[in-house]
Amino acid sequence: MTGKPDPFDVPFGTILCDWMTTARADGGPYVYGGSPEPYGDLAISPSAHVLHYGSAIFEGLKAHRQSDGSLAVFRLDSHVERMVSSAALLRLPPIDAQTLRQMVIDAVEANSTEVPDPPGSLYIRPTLIGTEPDIGAAARPTRSALLYVVNSPVGDYFKGGVRPLTLLVETSMPRTVPQFGMVKCGANYAMALGVTLDSMAANEAIDQVLFATGGDITETGAANFFLADGERVITRRLDESFLHGVTRASVIELARYLGYEVEERTISPDELVEWAERGEAFLSGTAAVLAPVGTMLYEGMTLTVGDGAPGPNTMRLRQALVDIQVGAAPDPFGWRTPVRG
Ligand SMILES: Cc1ncc(COP(=O)(O)O)c(C=O)c1O
Repeated sequence: MTGKPDPFDVPFGTILCDWMTTARADGGPYVYGGSPEPYGDLAISPSAHVLHYGSAIFEGLKAHRQSDGSLAVFRLDSHVERMVSSAALLRLPPIDAQTLRQMVIDAVEANSTEVPDPPGSLYIRPTLIGTEPDIGAAARPTRSALLYVVNSPVGDYFKGGVRPLTLLVETSMPRTVPQFGMVKCGANYAMALGVTLDSMAANEAIDQVLFATGGDITETGAANFFLADGERVITRRLDESFLHGVTRASVIELARYLGYEVEERTISPDELVEWAERGEAFLSGTAAVLAPVGTMLYEGMTLTVGDGAPGPNTMRLRQALVDIQVGAAPDPFGWRTPVRG
């Protein structure tokens, strides 16, 4: 990793690795040449579908340096599956799961010398854009598309590492249109940006906005939300209004494995008032990992979660998750895909 900064010294996602993989579809299946290319700019038409009609989706997953020095991608197949489904929901040319899987593995192997040791990791960003030149395609899908995978060595997503986060509970503005919350498309992030920036400008202590539109807590701009205590974990039941986090699914499986009851249901922000006094709250996500919540700002109230410090159940679940990710614990669920490196 010569000549690049330490990922812990710069914002998440701002260092890019030297190699990428690309595949193009042009009225048929994606054609992947089978070998990585040097990372570099893309040439697309100014009339490309993506630039006008927002035909863009992406994924976010990680490869971790294992305690024995090898490399493994965490939950590769779940992320591939979600991208296949995002492409279908946005009517992009259908992705072949096997091709995408191989493109991820090849990119990671090519960039293996750039993978930092834990707690750092290699963030993997598969991306798909509609490239058909057509500025009259408001009601037509793109027939041509570019699928690519870039990598970034990363440190902590939240500045300051594992620390109790402050959330603002937003009850009026939605994060996205309700039926598209489960799609990992660029447009959702564009919609959430203004609300998030405005909230943060009003109070710089806020780390994330927790969307609870109409009194229904779903997720933050970058992670899913959980309540926890010594007996149970609670998170929003799945529907199309928010992103079906792969980490969320992992936490649910792990919690059951560790003996917690799991409740998947609606959570009202009013519940937080009582819960903060006796329970714990945390966020889950590929970037966020499993991040403790220390304070929630809700309707003028400052709710301190427990004593404001990371709770024992949160930290227990976090450790169990991280241990599997970095190969410090067995992998009973088959979540790790080994790659050469
Ligand atoms: C809006 C949103 N919700 C939830 C998540 C968590 O999803 P995952 O655990 O698959 O990373 C993310 C992260 O990608 C996200 O951007």
